[in-house]
Amino acid sequence: MAFSEFHLSSFQCAGCHEYRNAHGVPILSTYSEWEQYRQRGGDKECQHCHMPQVLANIVDPKVKRVRGAFVNLHAMPGGHARDQLVRALEMRIMEAHRTPRGLRVKIRLRNVGAGHAVPSGSPMRKVILRVEVVTESGRRVQQERIYQRVVLDKRGAAIRRDSLLFTEARAIARDTRLAPAEERVEEFLLPISVDENLTLTAALIYLYSPHERPETETRIEFLSEKKELFSRWVR
Ligand code: HEC
Ligand code: HEC
Repeated sequence: MAFSEFHLSSFQCAGCHEYRNAHGVPILSTYSEWEQYRQRGGDKECQHCHMPQVLANIVDPKVKRVRGAFVNLHAMPGGHARDQLVRALEMRIMEAHRTPRGLRVKIRLRNVGAGHAVPSGSPMRKVILRVEVVTESGRRVQQERIYQRVVLDKRGAAIRRDSLLFTEARAIARDTRLAPAEERVEEFLLPISVDENLTLTAALIYLYSPHERPETETRIEFLSEKKELFSRWVR
């Protein structure tokens, strides 16, 4: 038995979390995104965020009882874990004001807690920023921004299933994900110009749909902010 430095380094995860297919398309790029995170001042290895120390039995308690022992968590909480998602991004409604053309809204997002892009891993993973305004009389207007890598097949159509990705991907059409440490301001113009009290909500949703079937989908709303905007008229 010997101590293994390798098991403490991100390089241990690279073998599976970095992959280019036969056509040279980067399907998984979490490791190279992590290198970018390091260049931008990040100082943590994958294990620090995904395998934190937890209290556990290091020997079967029937054999020997060892109290207060720690082991590294092996559940690998990632995008399917709400507490991990909450740590990843920061969201703030910066501005919301009425204009003759509608409600102008500015939202700031920051990738503060992931050691790679958000989302990372399979390109079938998306994060959606949904902005919604509801009037007193019940009218509802919604707009979205989607953060995702869109991958194309040889006919130029977007691939929508994990099972086709590895063999069929030929090009990346666009990548709108939040890079490590990136800050982005999104602007919306919601076409509502009535002079009523309005409720504005901004929400972040994680969506992983590997097979294009709703029953196999993971959908987690993980952050939201609400703002009431009062009418100029006091009734
Ligand atoms: C032998 C291959 C292999 C190695 C090595 C490996 N992984 Fe994975 N990992 C996978 C596969 C396959 C998945 C599932 C596909 C996916 O979610 O992208 C996965 C998924 C994950 C997830 C996502 C879980 C979720 O919520 O979806 C995290 C986080 C993760 N791995 C972290 C790590 C870390 C950290 C290391 C290094 C200590 C590591 N992995 C090493 C194969 C591997
Ligand atoms: C500074 C903390 C941090 C570091 C370092 C880090 N991660 Fe993560 N990781 C997160 C957070 C937070 C999430 C959840 C947000 C997301 O899904 O992107 C996450 C999600 C993931 C996911 C799931 C992707 C998804 O969108 O569901 C995988 C896979 C993963 N990490 C692998 C890795 C690997 C491999 C490394 C090292 C090369 C690594 N992580 C380094 C914090 C970190």
